[in-house]
Amino acid sequence: MKKSESAVFSERELPLVSALKTARNRHSFHMPGNRAGQSFSAEFRSLLTYLDTTELDNTGDINEPNGVVLRALELAARTFGSAQTYFITSGTTTSLRIALAGAFKAGDRVLLGQGSHLSVANSCALLGLEAVLIRQDALPRFADGQVSEAEVLRSLKEEENLAGVLLTTPGYYGENLPLEKICQAAHALGLPVIVDSAHGAHFAIKVSGKSPGEKNWPRTALSQGADMVAQSAHKTLPALTPASLLHLSQAAIDSGRVSPARLAKMLPVFQTSSPSFPIAASLDYARDFVDHDAAGYVSRLLDLLAEFEAQLPPGLTRDYIAGDDPCRLVLDYSASNCSRQEVFKILDAHRVDVELIDARCIVCIPPLDTPRESFIALGQACAEIAQAGQAEYSQVKIDLAQRQAFLRQGRTSLTLRDSFLAESAEMDFQNAEGQRSAGVIAPYPPGVPLLWPGEEIKSVDIALWQDLLDLAYDVRGLKSGKIEVLTGK
Ligand SMILES: Cc1ncc(COP(=O)(O)O)c(C=O)c1O
Repeated sequence: MKKSESAVFSERELPLVSALKTARNRHSFHMPGNRAGQSFSAEFRSLLTYLDTTELDNTGDINEPNGVVLRALELAARTFGSAQTYFITSGTTTSLRIALAGAFKAGDRVLLGQGSHLSVANSCALLGLEAVLIRQDALPRFADGQVSEAEVLRSLKEEENLAGVLLTTPGYYGENLPLEKICQAAHALGLPVIVDSAHGAHFAIKVSGKSPGEKNWPRTALSQGADMVAQSAHKTLPALTPASLLHLSQAAIDSGRVSPARLAKMLPVFQTSSPSFPIAASLDYARDFVDHDAAGYVSRLLDLLAEFEAQLPPGLTRDYIAGDDPCRLVLDYSASNCSRQEVFKILDAHRVDVELIDARCIVCIPPLDTPRESFIALGQACAEIAQAGQAEYSQVKIDLAQRQAFLRQGRTSLTLRDSFLAESAEMDFQNAEGQRSAGVIAPYPPGVPLLWPGEEIKSVDIALWQDLLDLAYDVRGLKSGKIEVLTGK
């Protein structure tokens, strides 16, 4: 008798398939925005495997856009407000690399926020760009080192021989950096502005403007004057991971700040020669969703969020100010006295998965079609968090130390390539005071470096890393108590 496919599956060892199967049926408050595929229409879901094809006459080419691909890109450019848009099927990591390579040449000095994603640090190293870090004098609101408008404007005045600027907005916690004045100041100096808007693809949705969240709906980076913008559609829209959009503005082309021909040349350099059609098709799907259905989903989600917030127990508050992404839910649990690990356990017991838990906040990215039941489950977990726990020490101190790390920058200008390629050796991080780190040290998520390659390690850094490890953080760059340091001083 022929065995059923599922019997064969259960007899054989497919560790990843098995693990992912059991991860179903949980409440998702994290990316991807497609909610384990449930946000897609039944028709699109049933088509997905059939969409996996190659460059044929009737499919076009994603890296050298023509035919139907070109038409899909034109529609995306119209929806997202660009002159040209590319579908990048290997994430915003790749989009940013293409943007940086399209705008700059080796040795160029690029102004960056310290809170840039580690993919930016890696790209600068690969491309031989000098990272000129924006000096911060005010404590960032969250542990992602987001810079302020004033700090960027001051750095634009102070720093010399810049070739351009790369900024991140929104931040991981949904906070937005106003870009209009920054773009004007940069453009007056002839500098292109690239924006890492990995978390902001949904800002292109034309909301109705009825609720407070909709009235304060954030503006897109392109509409504020950015020259190139990279967005991870998979983070906040129904698209497959890692579907990214790379946009170029008309003003960037007209002013000569970015050459569209150079940008197009970089696409096949950094994308695989086999870009994924299902992922690209999901970008076409997400664009259509933004055009037709998304505003209704946003309105419903904002109502659910308002209802949820109104029922939060004492000890938990929503950290939101006007201008933040109203779809992001950041819950400050510091008044609850519940430890980070305890929060993990309670959420897990309620089958709730969130994007990030730090020493003070729980960061949720509710997919736009999050069902009411998921908010009920999250609410029950919050009620338990509010009652449980007695933290042995103040986690709030760790949050503060993490934010202060962004004020404690050793160097303002880093040639990352030298640090990445220099001789290095492994040592116990506890003994590394005075050494220079060979790589990025970044709690993950969010993957924002606390220390950049080449920066000197101080005793306060070591103490902070130990505190984070004690709270069960995954700290990239530290493995089994070891760190890579530069050997030649
Ligand atoms: C701010 C920011 N930029 C860039 C990236 C990289 O995006 P992707 O995962 O789409 O490559 C991330 C990923 O989390 C991010 O948070």
